Amino acid sequence: MNDIQYQFVKKILSTSSHSAKEVGRAFAPSNIALCKYWGKRDEVLNLPVNSSISISLGNKGSFTEIKRSNKDTFILNDEIIDNQTAFSCRLSKFLDLFRSHCRAPGFEVRTKNNIPTSAGLASSASGFAALVLALNDLTGWELNNKDLSLLARLGSGSASRSIYNGFVIWNAGKNIDGSDSYSQSIDVKWPEIRIGIIKIDESEKKISSRDAMKKCVATSKKYNFWPSFAAEHLCKIQNSIIVKDFDMLGSTAEKNALKMHEVIRDTIPRIDFFTSETYQCLERIKSLRSNNVSVYATVDAGPNIKVLFLENELKVICKEFKKVEIINPFGEMNA
Ligand code: PMV
Repeated sequence: MNDIQYQFVKKILSTSSHSAKEVGRAFAPSNIALCKYWGKRDEVLNLPVNSSISISLGNKGSFTEIKRSNKDTFILNDEIIDNQTAFSCRLSKFLDLFRSHCRAPGFEVRTKNNIPTSAGLASSASGFAALVLALNDLTGWELNNKDLSLLARLGSGSASRSIYNGFVIWNAGKNIDGSDSYSQSIDVKWPEIRIGIIKIDESEKKISSRDAMKKCVATSKKYNFWPSFAAEHLCKIQNSIIVKDFDMLGSTAEKNALKMHEVIRDTIPRIDFFTSETYQCLERIKSLRSNNVSVYATVDAGPNIKVLFLENELKVICKEFKKVEIINPFGEMNA
């Protein structure tokens, strides 16, 4: 177990209350970054180089149930996961941080994702956030959102944002212990916003975002420019949310995603998450815009595209992208 992480968790849990239940249950939404987190200033504590902003995906995410047990068992979408897989090892390592606080040598964790796992649709974000929320339910810690976000961040950076619905900002923070690196909700509701998920390829990624991030920071010559671009995009996106300027929001989010992928492609050896279909789809989105349709794309560490648009363009988007899955981030939060 990593001692730095353990001490971080111990400090957060030192003032928490206890009223143990038999089963802890929670849901956390997936989220899509409008200004991406790319690069860590601390690998162990998952501390980011830059602040990021996301929008949560309403009722699309992870449902988790957790029970104490004498060994770890992970059941994902009704299938028992072999204990030797990278997935199980990562979860067990994360749970090591909580065993003594839960008085449990092991846990049975059952998770159902209603988003494709590992296809660039941020299932690790909702997965770790739901796990922390379920632990909080199991133990009766009654942690506040800041502490829940700090704990989820240890599992996966983007999980720190999945504690909340709606727009979320994750402040990178400056402290070396990570105590100021957590997410907060942005108190703006924008019910007309829609997200369309265009699945290009749902198979397991060749490289995880975690590994790609590490390699990119270490070898991409373009990475040096990323923090200043991200800071500029963050500021524009924050303002566009406050004044509800959709074109400013969408165009900046698209620029941000394309910039991140440009930086990633400069990694040695080259990493390109886009497939030829991703490029074609981005062109279609551009041509829709030239026909006055206000639609913008964002892409995470995978080939799949998420389009951002307002409710009034729904028909056009569904006609253009036959298999698009529409998400109403503000309408489906409590479903
Ligand atoms: O939290 P991680 O390690 O899965 O990294 C997420 C990275 C991106 O999805 C590409 C960007 C982001 O901010 O979510």
